[in-house]
Amino acid sequence: MTTPLLQAAELTRHYSVRSGAWPFGRTATLRAVDGVSFTLPAGRTLGLVGESGCGKSTTAKLVLGLVPPTRGEVRVMGETLPPAGTARWRALRRSIQMVFQDPLGALDRRVPVGDQITEPLIIHRIGTPAQRRDKAVATMAAVGLKLDHFDRYPHELSGGQRQRIVLARALVLEPKLIVCDEPISALDVSIQAQVVNLLVDLQAQLGIAYLFISHDLRMIRQVSHEVAVMYLGRIVEQGEPDSLLAQPAHPYTQALISAIPTASTRTRRGRIILKGDPPNPIDLPSGCAFHTRCAFAVARCRTETPALRVMADGRRVACHLADTNSPRAVA
Ligand SMILES: Nc1ncnc2c1ncn2[C@@H]1O[C@H](COP(=O)(O)OP(=O)(O)OP(=O)(O)O)[C@@H](O)[C@H]1O
Ligand SMILES: [Mg+2]
Repeated sequence: MTTPLLQAAELTRHYSVRSGAWPFGRTATLRAVDGVSFTLPAGRTLGLVGESGCGKSTTAKLVLGLVPPTRGEVRVMGETLPPAGTARWRALRRSIQMVFQDPLGALDRRVPVGDQITEPLIIHRIGTPAQRRDKAVATMAAVGLKLDHFDRYPHELSGGQRQRIVLARALVLEPKLIVCDEPISALDVSIQAQVVNLLVDLQAQLGIAYLFISHDLRMIRQVSHEVAVMYLGRIVEQGEPDSLLAQPAHPYTQALISAIPTASTRTRRGRIILKGDPPNPIDLPSGCAFHTRCAFAVARCRTETPALRVMADGRRVACHLADTNSPRAVA
């Protein structure tokens, strides 16, 4: 078997936080990511989806080595990701780039676009000045920026164009993986589709893999070869997007999917309304963390944490009742 490009093995990140009002507060453990394992082959896209606060961005930071894991590890091409700041980490980081939600925050307002795209090549000491300029110009063309954008400043461009600059900055290093954390959420809806199509085209041309994070299941479905649904720091369901969306096995996935507005569900028939807010991540419910909001919970769900099990169709599901309640078609 070939070594996968990216592996997360029992990846865990806990934070010590103060809970309760001063002076009675105590230090508590917040389980931002709690035993996440997945494999991403070269040239493929793994979509990570879930409600706000479920640990998507923390997973992204762990994969990039921006925060160290409390437990578990990230492997890139079979090699354990070394601690951030080491020479080996910098070398590996060349092949793992990132595109985050806020392009303006990722760019330097005082530096012309072309120089910002050239900068990663200078940092990694790649090529001569002339070669760097050629590479930057070619990369700009690949993401649909024009040559006359080269000497412009980020604030002179539109949101969609700025995200293309961020993408060009990542691509110029010819990465094998781009971690995209809500890359289109800040963009106008009409621009979102353009950027998504660009990402898909670039993958087809260059064989890049994406870890694509979004809370928008429709967007995730468009780009992903595999989808992982997260709830409170854990993957609760993982599988191929079409079958997962058509027949979600986990009650949480069912609720997420039923909330997608479509023409046929305009009347909201079949929509599953989740009870209450997600539980406090510093005081997680016992057993299955979803049991407090689950319409199907039985006694076992309150005491025993379900493991992620492989089902007959290859889907992975963390639900004690997955055999009895799956696959369930969402009306
Ligand atoms: N540095 C930190 N210190 C303490 N808690 C943190 C820290 N970073 C993240 N968290 C907590 O970890 C949990 C997961 O956060 P994370 O940013 O990964 O969520 P997310 O899924 O990306 O959410 P969103 O969709 O809102 O971006 C949250 O409860 C958050 O408050
Ligand atoms: Mg986030």
